[in-house]
Amino acid sequence: MHNGVSVTQFIIEEQRRLPEATGDFTSLLNDLVEKGAINGMSGAAETENIQGETQKKLDIITNDVFIASNEWAGHLAAMASEEEDDIYPIPAQYPKGKYLMSFDPLDGSSNIDVNISVGTIFSITKCPEGIENPTKEDFLIPGTEQICAGYALYGPSTMLVLTTGNGVNGFTLDRNIGEFILTHPNMTIPEDTREFAINSSNQRFWEAPVQKYVEECMQGAEGPRGENFNMRWVASMVAEVHRILVRGGIFMYPKDTKDPSKAGKLRIMYEANPMSMIVEQAGGVSHTGYERIMEIKPNDIHQRVPVILGSKNEVERVVGYHND
Ligand code: AHG
Ligand code: MN
Ligand code: MN
Repeated sequence: MHNGVSVTQFIIEEQRRLPEATGDFTSLLNDLVEKGAINGMSGAAETENIQGETQKKLDIITNDVFIASNEWAGHLAAMASEEEDDIYPIPAQYPKGKYLMSFDPLDGSSNIDVNISVGTIFSITKCPEGIENPTKEDFLIPGTEQICAGYALYGPSTMLVLTTGNGVNGFTLDRNIGEFILTHPNMTIPEDTREFAINSSNQRFWEAPVQKYVEECMQGAEGPRGENFNMRWVASMVAEVHRILVRGGIFMYPKDTKDPSKAGKLRIMYEANPMSMIVEQAGGVSHTGYERIMEIKPNDIHQRVPVILGSKNEVERVVGYHND
């Protein structure tokens, strides 16, 4: 026995609040979190993914572990992974379920060799009624249709942060008992912040509204904002979003002119949508500068979008600069 609420208990208690729930989703989530912790090795493998990025060995390992852990239990009809060119249908030998899962098995992979925090991000939607063999099209629905989103953060402690549309809760892995314990109930993002995160090496490619916002932050107490700002860039979106959930902040991977064929760097299905659901559920805002991310209807499972998310008043300020 342990003190505190385990994630398994929390999920079951959440389900009891919904009289129509069948328990299927609960057991999907419990299977998912019980397989949450990841062990592995690092090093570059010799393959590239469809988006032309070199896959680290651990990207492939975590992708395979995630699929193997989630394909057999009968909850899912198909999965879509950042590391798979096409969707992954549940193999014929397993029962098919009524949910679809999209995931980024390893987020922040450039940080592995340097021993900085990385994570796993996932998003769950319903498989359309009556569809046994979903196709790519069935995944291409707006983020507002997500029924669950979450991430695991492999940092100084391993954490799991979850939303099922009823707020955001954070759990910390207790290694002695191998269970995630509720340590951060009802996480909320402060509306104001004096901390921003952006990869400034892309500055020359940014559009005018982002140029203006960052320039004003950099001017600090002597500039139009009249206050000093702090800056962070971890290069693991999971770690950045987690910091924002804990102490506020704004994170931007905005639209830029670096590569006209890409609207942004981050991927809508595996990164932007699940993080947007979490951020909005915690009282923050998630936007491209032009539209609410979760209202976008994706055209492709690997589509990229600009991302500006975090503390409400700062994100709204940046969106305001886009409207001007
Ligand atoms: P991934 O490791 O899944 O490819 O994602 C990395 C993403 C995101 O986590 C991070 O915020 C961003 O890419 C970092 O980009 P830069 O290397 O351009 O800073
Ligand atoms: Mn990622
Ligand atoms: Mn990844």
